Order: sequence, then structure tokens, then C-alpha cells
Amino acid sequence: MAKKTYRFPHKHLLGIRGLSAEDIQYLLDVAETHIAKNRQQNKKKDSLKGRTVINLFFENSTRTRTSFELAGKRLSADVINMSATHSSIKKGETLIDTAMTLNAMHPDIICVRHPESGAVQLLSEKVNCAVVNAGDGTHEHPTQALLDALTIRMKRGPLKGQTVAICGDILHSRVARSNVALLTTMGAKVRLIGPPTLMPRFADALGGKVYHNMREGLKGCDIIMMLRLQTERMQGSFVPSIREYFHFYGLDAEKLSHAKSDALVMHPGPINRGVEISGELADDIQRSVILDQVEMGVAVRQAVLEVLVEGLDA
Ligand code: NCD
Repeated sequence: MAKKTYRFPHKHLLGIRGLSAEDIQYLLDVAETHIAKNRQQNKKKDSLKGRTVINLFFENSTRTRTSFELAGKRLSADVINMSATHSSIKKGETLIDTAMTLNAMHPDIICVRHPESGAVQLLSEKVNCAVVNAGDGTHEHPTQALLDALTIRMKRGPLKGQTVAICGDILHSRVARSNVALLTTMGAKVRLIGPPTLMPRFADALGGKVYHNMREGLKGCDIIMMLRLQTERMQGSFVPSIREYFHFYGLDAEKLSHAKSDALVMHPGPINRGVEISGELADDIQRSVILDQVEMGVAVRQAVLEVLVEGLDA
């Protein structure tokens, strides 16, 4: 159960970096309290009744936007979804003007996804409400790391001491950055596996041990997180061909056999079958917890909204 006495000391959730183990633990504890209710017929709670939540998405998204929307609605908030393609951003309005316009309508929380790293932080400095980073460029995606952590915790218990491999396009991945920060803070051991061209220059400084060989890197791992090749962020060619990429870095049953025999397979989605993961493995519910991650995503976002609203009232 969540410790009701804990006070989350941050106004916004802009990233995992900057959160303490206690902050993370608290968010996960609150999230866990939402899981059972979300499986019932009546999923409604009223902890955000009278509140306004704006989901402001400057980048296409299906699962994350839906997840934030459901989270807000299940807590009885008024939820507005704004997508950049339908807004005045296309008419040349700046990010700051958009933020100030929305701020004038007195929202309580704005959840923002933006293609530029740092844009969400910038926006948070211009508004009075709480801001949640729903993914900014290649920088952070904190609710994804939290939902990944909740999935691991529900399936395998505490994160401390578990060996987690994050594999693939580390260079362009905000999911990888947030996950490395969360996992190392919580005492898990992190490995980063991928081709040299998709590894940040100082990858080990992120806090993980770097491998370029999948079979070597997967040896003894408890959890394997696969990442999508983020082609929309690539300028130029980072892999010789998709076929060759799958051959060396795509997760299939053979490569998986090098990890622990009960290792779990995760992926933030959207998955590209036959690119970073084989279709059979993605569908194997004995090993893949990809849909559990989606389920935990709603509970985590409910927790984040609730905890930030508590902070606004304090
Ligand atoms: C991730 C993202 O957008 O960063 N997906 C997500 O949030 N569901 C990862 C990805 O796009 O590959």
C-alpha cells in the first residue's frame, strides 16, 4: 500500500533524473492501488473531480495519449486532448505562446509530448499548473520507465539486484534514458546492448555496461527490454539493412536462450515485427509482457496525476 504520509516533493514530473528512490517507490505504490479497480466493470474514482487535464501532443502517439486520457477520465477529471496537427502550431504559434494560452484557461495539469529534448521543461517554466513529460525528443519519457518498473515489480518482485538488458537503438531512445535512471536508482544492474552506431558516445556514463554482442550481453539477464529503431529521429543511415539488423540485434528464441531461462521480454511499443523482435516472441505470453506494460501504463499515469494534484493542494 502507498504510504499516505509521504509527500512527493516535486511540482512537475519532467524526468526520472532528479527523483529519489523514495519518490519512485511512492509513485509505484500509488500506481499499484489502481490496478484492481481498472479490471472492474466500474473503473471510476473521483480523486480528480473538478480538475482539468490537458494532453498536449506535438508528436503522433496512440498508446501514450490514450493511456493519459483514460487515466484522467477514470479519476473523473475533465480531459482535453490537443494534437499539434489540429492546432495553431501549424499556423506558426510558438510553444511558449501555446503554453501561455492554455495556462490562461486554468488547467491543473498539462501532459506534453514534444519532438525536441528540453521543450517540456521550457513549457513548465511558463505555466502555473503541474506539467508531466509524456516524452521529449531523445531526452526522457518518465511515465514509460515507471510503467516498466511496475510491470517488473508485479511479475518479478523488487527491482533491486535484477539484471536488465536494454537493447537496440539506445542513441535515439528517451525510453532507454529514463529506464537507466530509474533502474540504477532502484538498485538494478543495467546492460546496454546495441551496435556501436546506435550507442551514445559516452553510453557507459549513463550508468549501464555496454555490449555490442547480443548473446554475450543477454547472458544471465532477468529482464530484456527491446527498443524500436527510431528511424524518424535518424539523419542518415545507422544500420546497413533491416535484415542484417535483425540477424545481429533482433530478439528471437535463439538469442533469448542466452538469458535466464525465465527471463521476461519487454517492449514499449509500437513493435516492429521482424526488425527488433520476432513476431512469434512478441506474441508468446509465456515470455512477453508487452500487453501487461500497456495495462500498467494506465495505473502509473493515474498515480502521477493524483500525486501531482496532491502537491497542488498542499
Ligand atoms: C516510445 C516513445 O514514444 O518514446 N513509445 C511509447 O511511448 N509508447 C518508444 C517508441 O516510440 O519506440
